[in-house]
Amino acid sequence: MKLIIGSDHGGLLLKEKVKEYLTSKGYDIEDVGTYTAVSCDYPVIADKVCQKVLADSSNLGILVCGTGIGMSIYANKVKGIRASHCTDTFSARLTRQHNDSNVLCLGERITGFGLALDIVTEWLNASFEGGRHQKRVDMINELDTMRNN
Ligand code: RB5
Repeated sequence: MKLIIGSDHGGLLLKEKVKEYLTSKGYDIEDVGTYTAVSCDYPVIADKVCQKVLADSSNLGILVCGTGIGMSIYANKVKGIRASHCTDTFSARLTRQHNDSNVLCLGERITGFGLALDIVTEWLNASFEGGRHQKRVDMINELDTMRNN
């Protein structure tokens, strides 16, 4: 499993913290940028992360911007991505267990570094429970097909 991580300028410092922390835990990380504090467009980064998550079903993504919201709005428009904007550990755990979340979104201007690292840990340590949740995740994945029927 590879962790694809990216941020805009508003999430750069938290992205670096998350990367440093997860690297120390032995995770295989690919950082798609941004690498400087120069202003950039979060949809570009969100798209890079989402495409790499979709390329291998064992991959997961982490996106950071100022609020975490712009990244999550973009990522959830990409078919096959289930992005979760989390500001607490309970949601981080449940969104893996119930929604099979494959992208975590964080807001550097919202969530302190300590809590953010706990959220990341909780999200990574939880796994999808399947069962009754599988049908609902299938319904999300098949949204376009369902509408046309
Ligand atoms: C950048 O100023 C900011 O808009 C961005 O990081 C993010 O918060 C958007 O949702």
